[in-house]
Amino acid sequence: MFDKSVYVNRRERLMQKMSGGLVLILGNGEAPANYTDNTYKFRQDSSFLYFFGLNQPGFAGVMDVDSGETCLFGNDVDMDDIIWMGPQPSVKEQAASVGVVNSAPFAKLAEVLQQAISAGRKIHFLPPYRFRNMLLLEDLLGIHHSLVKKYASLELIKAVVSLRSVKEQCEIDEIDRACNIGYEMHVAAMKNALPGVKEHYIAGLIEGIAASYGSMVSFPVILSQNGETLHNHDHSKTLTVGRMMLTDAGAETTMNYCSDFTRTVPVGGRFDQRQKDVYNIVLACNNKAIEIARPGVTYQYVHLEVCKVLAQGLKDLGLMKGDVNAAVAAGAHALFMPHGLGHMMGLDVHDMEDLGQIYVGYDDETRPIQQFGTSSLRMGRRLEKGFVITDEPGCYFIPALIDQWREQGLHKEFLVYDKIETYKDFGGIRLEDDILITDNGSRFMGERRTPITVEEVENTING
Ligand code: GLY
Ligand code: MN
Repeated sequence: MFDKSVYVNRRERLMQKMSGGLVLILGNGEAPANYTDNTYKFRQDSSFLYFFGLNQPGFAGVMDVDSGETCLFGNDVDMDDIIWMGPQPSVKEQAASVGVVNSAPFAKLAEVLQQAISAGRKIHFLPPYRFRNMLLLEDLLGIHHSLVKKYASLELIKAVVSLRSVKEQCEIDEIDRACNIGYEMHVAAMKNALPGVKEHYIAGLIEGIAASYGSMVSFPVILSQNGETLHNHDHSKTLTVGRMMLTDAGAETTMNYCSDFTRTVPVGGRFDQRQKDVYNIVLACNNKAIEIARPGVTYQYVHLEVCKVLAQGLKDLGLMKGDVNAAVAAGAHALFMPHGLGHMMGLDVHDMEDLGQIYVGYDDETRPIQQFGTSSLRMGRRLEKGFVITDEPGCYFIPALIDQWREQGLHKEFLVYDKIETYKDFGGIRLEDDILITDNGSRFMGERRTPITVEEVENTING
């Protein structure tokens, strides 16, 4: 964990932002996979990690905004736990390690909250995303579990988002580390993108690289030679010459900071001309975002400018036609890129998505655009120094979507359907980097940019 002053400072800043009452931050519990004692790998709640830093199950933290006091609730281990898990520090010691003076058994939490409710005090909590915590909130606050999300505190959500959006130097260092692991994962994937290799072999190999750093993947690996399916978790195919393998994967450090990269490479190590042409358009899109992303610019603007690069490239290839600006304004390009340019990244790969994407990616000034494709943009608001975001343009040929649009005659004035038809066997390309918004621009995260040009990728695969 970071130095305890980091957590003390974060809690103080949070309390300064709040108008009063108690702030309840629930940690996560163990989640059984197929029976109680066989659990999924434990993943702590990210806001709990942010304010309390402790990466064990069964904790909750309460900050009293009016008195400024903080208390950690959790149970000390008993002899049975020591026998099976080894000795563990006491809750009091763990609390002290993150600068919390007060601690109490978990059962005391209900009492403290009931007293506050009786005194008419407000209890702020974040929207739960695990059923365990929904049920816990029902027990603690008497709100039916189906309604607890609705009663989450908007004031707290906005305060947490404002803090977690701007990364501290210690967080930037961790994300750089996660990106360095991501680099290794992607280079290993490239080197193994050979005909006859099973997709699940490479998926397992790169997951193992993340695990070998004592960490884990930041989300289930997306890897497929059918890259036109945006989040393809089916790794059952055998790689074939003529296809491209799309790998979208990242690591979490032991401190739970994430990376998220996508590369698309030719199986066997040589792009054909058609692949190269589309690949270079997507690369130009990726580079455009880095060129124009800076403090003061909205990411919605960056997204739309990138879409114009995509549309221009596809027009040059004869797949689109007409005025490029008008095509993007109409949403015609979304046939090829039906997703947003990127999202915030930090303790979560889609940072703070549990708090509500609208509060993370948008604000009163920048509202979502309700048009197919751009409506999937998770991050639209004005960029600030210290934001970490992904830059992930793509170009996909999704046969079912092409058929549907063609049947409906959608955007006929911008789409050359007869030519598009001939790309139905193409697959998809996505190129994703992670960037930090700096004083007057942006920089790639991690020591080195993962190989991305046609030449770099071909050289990596061919050794
Ligand atoms: N890398 C997966 C995603 O951004 O959704
Ligand atoms: Mn991403």
